[in-house]
Amino acid sequence: MTASHKKLASQMIKLVKKGIANAYAPYSSIPVSAGLYCEGGEIFTGVNIENSSYSLSMCAERVALFKAVSSGYRKFLLLLLYSPEFEFILPCGACLQTLYEFSPELVVATMNTNGAFKFYPLKTLIKRPFKL
Ligand code: THU
Repeated sequence: MTASHKKLASQMIKLVKKGIANAYAPYSSIPVSAGLYCEGGEIFTGVNIENSSYSLSMCAERVALFKAVSSGYRKFLLLLLYSPEFEFILPCGACLQTLYEFSPELVVATMNTNGAFKFYPLKTLIKRPFKL
């Protein structure tokens, strides 16, 4: 993690916090918002989208990732996560694996409601990704 990762994270705070309004989490009551900063400066956001058939729910990280990839972006510098109901939320295993596919060097940032950050290289969160 470098000073530039901190800069990117602070650039995305407003956007990621704003996203919480669009999270659809009536079952868990844990709204999550994600911002994905792409190489080149584009930013994609995502929120969790739950379903009454619980296993069909989707995490905020993968919504942001799939929006980015389907728009032609494949290299990512920073992921910023936020939930007002879960301090310093981190990606689940499925999200770690899907993020790793495109950007093993990604840095994951997470923040709490007081505006404090924690930073983790993706590689420290997924130590043995599945690789073909
Ligand atoms: N969730 C995310 O969107 N991202 C995470 O980092 C972990 C969990 C969602 C899934 C579900 O809608 C809710 O949070 C509670 O698990």
